[in-house]
Amino acid sequence: MRNFVIRGNLCWSESSDSIRLVPRGYLVCEEGRCAGVFETLPECYVNLPLTDYGDALIIPGLTDLHLHAPQFSFRGLGMDMELLDWLNTYTFPEESKYADLAYADRAYTIFADHLRRSATTRAAVFGTIHVPATELLMDKMEQSGLVSYIGKVNMDRNSPEYLCETGAAASLADTERWICETREKYANTMPILTPRFVPSCTDELLQGLGRLAERYHLPVQSHLSENFGEIAWVQELCPGTKFYGEAYDRYGLFGGGIPCIMAHCVHSGEEETELMRKNGVFIAHSPLSNTNLASGVAPVSKYLNRGLNVALASDIAGGESENLFASMAAAIRASKLRWRLLDQEVKPLTVDQAFYLGTLGGGRFFGKVGAFEKDYEFDAVVIDDTTLDHPQELTLRARLERCLYLADDRNLAAKYVRGKQVF
Ligand code: GUN
Ligand code: FE
Repeated sequence: MRNFVIRGNLCWSESSDSIRLVPRGYLVCEEGRCAGVFETLPECYVNLPLTDYGDALIIPGLTDLHLHAPQFSFRGLGMDMELLDWLNTYTFPEESKYADLAYADRAYTIFADHLRRSATTRAAVFGTIHVPATELLMDKMEQSGLVSYIGKVNMDRNSPEYLCETGAAASLADTERWICETREKYANTMPILTPRFVPSCTDELLQGLGRLAERYHLPVQSHLSENFGEIAWVQELCPGTKFYGEAYDRYGLFGGGIPCIMAHCVHSGEEETELMRKNGVFIAHSPLSNTNLASGVAPVSKYLNRGLNVALASDIAGGESENLFASMAAAIRASKLRWRLLDQEVKPLTVDQAFYLGTLGGGRFFGKVGAFEKDYEFDAVVIDDTTLDHPQELTLRARLERCLYLADDRNLAAKYVRGKQVF
């Protein structure tokens, strides 16, 4: 069914500071795109099939701009360490298991099923260094109905022997083969270049990935300025750089012509921030992860005010939940503590800003995605909030606000991606 209408209480971000509400509005889908929002259905659409969701809320699908599929297996575990010890103790041993395709199949089946049932419609996902398991993950994500970028991870140094590629040349050859096998294979699943982070990639590897990004017009995702120990280590490893981001930028892996996601950016300094703004880098803000691993709190409202691209991310399994509503609430909460305890110059996030981060903020990485504007891709989530019951009258705005704090997949009545109903 390509063309149809759904009806309900429509809510979407017009900007990072304003949410538009259309009670009992009509949302028209034509050829997978939004043809418009209407208070009264125009004559030309009255013959289209209509699904009326009654008093439910309808919001754009949510975008998770950074998460690790192989880490879903240990979500909620191992939050007693900081980043580098956490990687060595919990993450790397688990990721090594994905050399075994039978294990990967079991784990990725669970992962893709949870994402399918969540409010997430778009995602940028890390796999592992293993090509067969990453291709299996891509198959499963394609079947899930979501639109996603999936990365085969690159790591050729400072990694345990059991999870280290045998040099830059081998890593690049594997990566190029994987790109060629997958870049035209799917309708909704695309490869993305994924150097894990500077400590696990030699200069030769980063340089080669920069060339692949250009040759195949591929986007890039990685980690940046997450943790103090990590940042000090990068400074040691790259003595010629003034700041962490420069280690990516000198090989063309930091935005500019090439779309780029950098997860975290908790401790980015002035120069790094300015280069991200200039290059249009997307910051994947991961408040659950940044608090669980005691990394810190990113100055998100400062980034927004300066016009940087900022999105929301679960960073599974640094973050424990794929439910992005939980990340919205966590983003607001963390920003309040940052403001109270650290820096009164950077204001706490508002509900409008948190909602924006999870919808339009990340959707923009995928093009016209994340809002109910004309020609935007038709990604929508229908929220039935009747289990969040209350004795008093609540405005639509108040009901949406409560969803940020309280909703999860049990409250979802339907989900559409590119005009196709997922459930
Ligand atoms: N930096 C390098 N690898 C990782 C990872 O798997 N998770 C997080 N949070 N940070 C990283
Ligand atoms: Fe991460």
